[in-house]
Amino acid sequence: MRTAIFQYILFLASRDVTSSDAEAVYAQLQQWYDESTGLWQGQWWNSGSCISTIANLATIDGNLKNDIVSVMENSFANAPKTYPNFLSKSVIPSSHPLTHTTDKATPRSYYDDDGWWALALLSAYDLTRNTAYLTSATAIFTSMRSTFGSTPCSSNSGAQGGIWWDKDHTYINAIPNELFLSVAAHLANRAGDGGEYRDLARRQWEWFRGTGLINQGNTINDGLDPGSCANNGGVVWTYNQGVILGALVELSSATGDASLLSTVGSIASAAIAQLSDSDGILHEPCESYAEGCDTDRTQFKGIFARNLARLGRAGGGDYGDFLRRNAESVWGSSNDGDGVLGVNWAGPFGGGNASTTCSGLDVLVAALGT
Ligand SMILES: *[C@@H]1O[C@H](CO)[C@@H](O)[C@H](O)[C@H]1NC(C)=O
Repeated sequence: MRTAIFQYILFLASRDVTSSDAEAVYAQLQQWYDESTGLWQGQWWNSGSCISTIANLATIDGNLKNDIVSVMENSFANAPKTYPNFLSKSVIPSSHPLTHTTDKATPRSYYDDDGWWALALLSAYDLTRNTAYLTSATAIFTSMRSTFGSTPCSSNSGAQGGIWWDKDHTYINAIPNELFLSVAAHLANRAGDGGEYRDLARRQWEWFRGTGLINQGNTINDGLDPGSCANNGGVVWTYNQGVILGALVELSSATGDASLLSTVGSIASAAIAQLSDSDGILHEPCESYAEGCDTDRTQFKGIFARNLARLGRAGGGDYGDFLRRNAESVWGSSNDGDGVLGVNWAGPFGGGNASTTCSGLDVLVAALGT
């Protein structure tokens, strides 16, 4: 008898997530959406990433499609009030609505931020086929391309490639370079004949592999040492293991080279092995830091989950169990009870906001779409 009750409780605690769970999370997320800025809690790149999350949600849940399409339209109309043409700038007007504290203190501008918005526009294009979104994404890519192949670390590898992290040219790291590759590869499959983008994406991938950013253990460190251009051994953040997966799914489809999927499949498996706990739940390294994870970092795990699902759907491995386990865990153990999700997917819930909730929504959507 006791055993039966215990098992029933376990069953309740770990039931599969459903689309009505994702709808509840989406409803909570929207409490932070500001119609006038088109951003969630005034966060810039996080909002671009979150648009990709809800685009995926719309594809698996028709109930939400109209609502999500109008949120996107609103964001694409109003976000450029913060940064015209979605291109981040070092000079922020005093009326600037961003609440992101580090941006406020030291306004800087980043090519990766622009890349998130390019991917947001591409996910909206995929959902709606509105070519205006494709045109805007292409214009962002043109700006990202302005430093392509001309950084101090651009020729330390077989191919001449690579872009800077920031427009002040202080660092060359994985994330803007993965995003550049991903946007190029997406455009290769969507814009015109795509040949130019396909060649850029191929060259960027050759460069990226040659830099040593992918370490011996098949995971990706944060960036390059500015002096030697070698892998700087920086933190293995989850999103750097994620963006590359979606990028190579697109490149594989642009080139017909299926071996790219197994190459990134080993990055996916290494990341799952290295960044999950003994229950198979994914963690961001900063979750164990005394200061916790800042608003940038609380977004990262969802990005990994989103791209992992993409790799799985493309035939690059079976990640269904991993994604469902993580979705069940964040929904069951890191939830305020109404669908606000927290940063630690294993729980307990310790507060949540737009970044943590949208990131958790990513893994729910990834599990539901796998
Ligand atoms: C969101 O929550 C995380 C984790 O609790 C916290 O570190 C971050 O500062 C919060 N961000 C905002 C904008 O409230």
